[in-house]
Amino acid sequence: MKSKSPVKLSANMREDSNFSQSDLDFDQNHIWHPYTSLTNPLPTYPVVSASEVRLKLENGQELIDGMSSWWTAIHGYNVPELNQAAKDQLEKMSHVMFGGITHQPAISLAKKLVEITPKGLNNVFFSDSGSVSVEVAMKMAVQYQHSLGHSGKTKFMTFKNGYHGDTTSPMSVCDPEKGMHHLFTDFLPKHHFFEAPKNGFDEEPDEAELSQLAIFFEQNAKESAAFILEPIVQGAGGMRMYAPKYLSAVKGLCEKHNLLLIADEIATGFGRTGKLFACEHANVSPDIMCVGKALTGGYLSLAATLCSDRVSKTICEGEAGVFMHGPTFMANPLSCAIANKNIELLLSSNWQEKIEQIESQLKQELEPAQQFPSVKEVRVLGAIGVIETAEEVNVPAAQKFFVDAEVWIRPFRNLIYIMPPYVIQPEDLSKVTKAMVDYCHSIANGS
Ligand SMILES: Cc1ncc(COP(=O)(O)O)c(C=O)c1O
Repeated sequence: MKSKSPVKLSANMREDSNFSQSDLDFDQNHIWHPYTSLTNPLPTYPVVSASEVRLKLENGQELIDGMSSWWTAIHGYNVPELNQAAKDQLEKMSHVMFGGITHQPAISLAKKLVEITPKGLNNVFFSDSGSVSVEVAMKMAVQYQHSLGHSGKTKFMTFKNGYHGDTTSPMSVCDPEKGMHHLFTDFLPKHHFFEAPKNGFDEEPDEAELSQLAIFFEQNAKESAAFILEPIVQGAGGMRMYAPKYLSAVKGLCEKHNLLLIADEIATGFGRTGKLFACEHANVSPDIMCVGKALTGGYLSLAATLCSDRVSKTICEGEAGVFMHGPTFMANPLSCAIANKNIELLLSSNWQEKIEQIESQLKQELEPAQQFPSVKEVRVLGAIGVIETAEEVNVPAAQKFFVDAEVWIRPFRNLIYIMPPYVIQPEDLSKVTKAMVDYCHSIANGS
C-alpha cells in the first residue's frame, strides 16, 4: 500500500527548489528513513544546506539545530577547516584498501586516539559505523577469551536500558524488553542483563543495588566474555545519566572475575558529557572502547574500536593468530583526514568551558519544565539536555511545533532531548530550550 499523505510543496517552494514534488513523493513511498514505515511514513522536512548551527529548509526557513545530527556535528555544519581537510585529502585519494596498504591519515588518527583516550588503549581497529565497532568489540572479547582457552565464555553482561546499535550483536545487548529490538528476541543470542543504575549522576549509588550487582557477577561471569556498557549516559535506551561510582564498581568486579570491560563511548565521546570521554568521570580505563559519531565532526561515517595490549597480544597469540575482521572501507582515508582535523579543532578550542556554559544554561532554562504535570523529569549533563515526559510524545505534532518555533529537535518515545553543537551561541540555545519548555506547557494544557 502506498502512502496517502505525501509532503506537498507550495508553489513558491518549488520555484527555487532542487526537489520536485515527484522526488518527495518518491522519498515517501520508496526510501526508508530511520525507524519509520513506508506505508504510513512520518513527515520529513527537505533540507537544502546547513551552516554553523542552522539547517536550511527547502522553503528558506532556517532551524537552529538541537541534535548535532544525532551527536555528530560538534562544530556545527559547513566548517571551513573540515571542508578544507576533505578537499585536500580528496585530491590525494578518497579511498584505498587497508589490506596490505597503510596511509598517513590512518596513522595520524590512530596516534591521536591512543593519546587522548584513557590510559592503556594502545591499539586501534577502524570500521565504518558505530554498530560495526561494537560488533568488533564483542568479537575481540570472545576471541580474547577463546585464546585463553575459555571457549565457553561467549555471553555478555550488561545493564538494562542500554543501546549499542542496530546490527545483530549490538542488538543482542540492547535493552531486551523496552528497547527497539525486543521483537527480535527469539532471533538474538541471549545475554545477561542487570537493572539499569537507579541513581543519577550526582547521587551515591544504592548499596543494596551494588551488592546485587556483585551477586549478578558471581552468577554469570563464568560464561561471559565481557561487561559492555555506555559509560555515565545511557543514550537511545532512555537518555539516563548515572553515578560514576557504578562504573567504578563494574570495573572492579570485571577485574575480580577476569572479565573484560567494553565502554561504548560512541555517543558520549569527544567532550559531550563535560569530559573528553565519559569514562574519565570515574577515572576508569576500559579494556576495549568504541568511538564513532563525533569522530569526524559529523562529516562522514567512521568508527574505531580501541583495545589494551593485553587484549591484542592475547588475541594474536591465540589459535587464529589474527583478529578476524576486515571491512572494505576500513580506515577510509577521506574520513580519517577529516577526523584528524576535527580532533585538532576540538582540542585547540575552549571546549570544556563551552560545555560548562551549555550545561549551566540547560539546567537553568529547562528546569521550569519540571512544573508541568506532563513532565516526569528534567536531566542535564554536559551538553545534553533531556525532558522525560509522562506520556509518549506525538512525534509529528511535536516536530511541527518545533519547526514552527524554528528549531530542530527530534523526540522519541517520551524523551525530548537535545545535544547541540558545542559552537551554539547562548541566544540560539535559549530559542531551543524555550521551544522545549513551551511544548511541554502546550501538552500540559492539552493542546
Ligand atoms: C551508544 C551507542 N552505541 C552504538 C550506536 C550505533 O552507532 P551507529 O548508528 O553509527 O551504527 C549508537 C547510535 O546511536 C549509540 O548511541
